[in-house]
Amino acid sequence: MKTLSDLLAEGVAGRRVLVRADLNVPLDGDKITDDGRVRASVPTIKALADAGARVIVTAHLGRPKGEPDPKFSLAPAAARLGELLGTEVALASDLVGPSATSVVGAVTDGGVVMLENVRFDARETSKVDAERAELAEELASFADAFVSDGFGVVHRKQASVYDVAQKLPAYVGGLVETELGVLRKLTDDLERPYVVVLGGAKVSDKLGVIANLLAKVDRLLIGGGMAYTFLKAQGHEVGTSLLQSDQLDQVKGFLAEAEKRGVELVLPVDVLVTAEFGNVEHEVVATSAIPADKMGLDIGPESRELFASKLADAKTVFWNGPMGVFEIETYAGGTRAVAEALVKSEAFTVVGGGDSAAAVRALGLPEDGFSHISTGGGASLEFLEGKELPGISVLES
Ligand code: 3PG
Repeated sequence: MKTLSDLLAEGVAGRRVLVRADLNVPLDGDKITDDGRVRASVPTIKALADAGARVIVTAHLGRPKGEPDPKFSLAPAAARLGELLGTEVALASDLVGPSATSVVGAVTDGGVVMLENVRFDARETSKVDAERAELAEELASFADAFVSDGFGVVHRKQASVYDVAQKLPAYVGGLVETELGVLRKLTDDLERPYVVVLGGAKVSDKLGVIANLLAKVDRLLIGGGMAYTFLKAQGHEVGTSLLQSDQLDQVKGFLAEAEKRGVELVLPVDVLVTAEFGNVEHEVVATSAIPADKMGLDIGPESRELFASKLADAKTVFWNGPMGVFEIETYAGGTRAVAEALVKSEAFTVVGGGDSAAAVRALGLPEDGFSHISTGGGASLEFLEGKELPGISVLES
């Protein structure tokens, strides 16, 4: 893969460089609630701008339906990027239309501009190769080189990630290089014990990664909503907790596979239960005694201690997915306990992106307490699953 350093060495002064960033940040109205991805995008954009490039940023936000929708405008991300760079980032009001043409035409050496949400164009996510290629051609016409720096989307075969890399000289950005380096350490070069903590709502999102990790880890700790399908598979009643009944056979298979391979699979032993989602009144019960009319919303105090003890001697840790509904303070304790155990640990600790990265920041934990906080949720899971990432393979080809 050609890298950002190669591009800088070639010289970029006065050249137009299209950068695919991942600026898919959580919003409350038009307020960014976690700017981690914008901050992570700064070094590559700044390096190019400082070297005199005319930088054109393309990115998505949310999942609009292939047409403009003001709810998903990149305006807050453009404003935040401008603040972090200390310069104005002009945002085109369209992607490849008259506004984009004019904004791109006006960018000066060392300047940074942004195109509106690339998913406002249905061709971006089209399954029809020719449609994506057509949009990629239009995007490519704005620039002389392409830098792929949106790690969170490299698992997507989309026009601004995959196809455009075939239309312009393409380079891997600094963020993507760093993320790949960290994830390769988790696959090729790891120190044991290797402990993985998985959480989040749905076990179905994690099937591939669990299947792959069972061959690699020493210990697998499971919390969050997905734990209830495991508990049920072990014969416990889970009340009205989140349960994916259609995954029970698969999960029973995982339990058997873990035993066969000598992988220690650790589940919560107690949980905080409540009658209604969001209700802060709760009680702590053993996972063997969840009442029929209650749902679990966080792992309990004994489980927190258990999980922390299983992390204490780890040399390598990967964590993806919260242990409970951390957005509600009453149910944030499990997620906080895992995060604190990682901060204390001397292991190489990697936080998978998405909710767990947002949780670390929302709970006010020091970001430098972890070896790496990934910007890619789905992308890092797919990497660990051993899947090919289209946005990377296209740069290698
Ligand atoms: C993410 O949030 O994981 C990335 O930005 C990718 O978004 P997507 O899942 O909507 O493709």
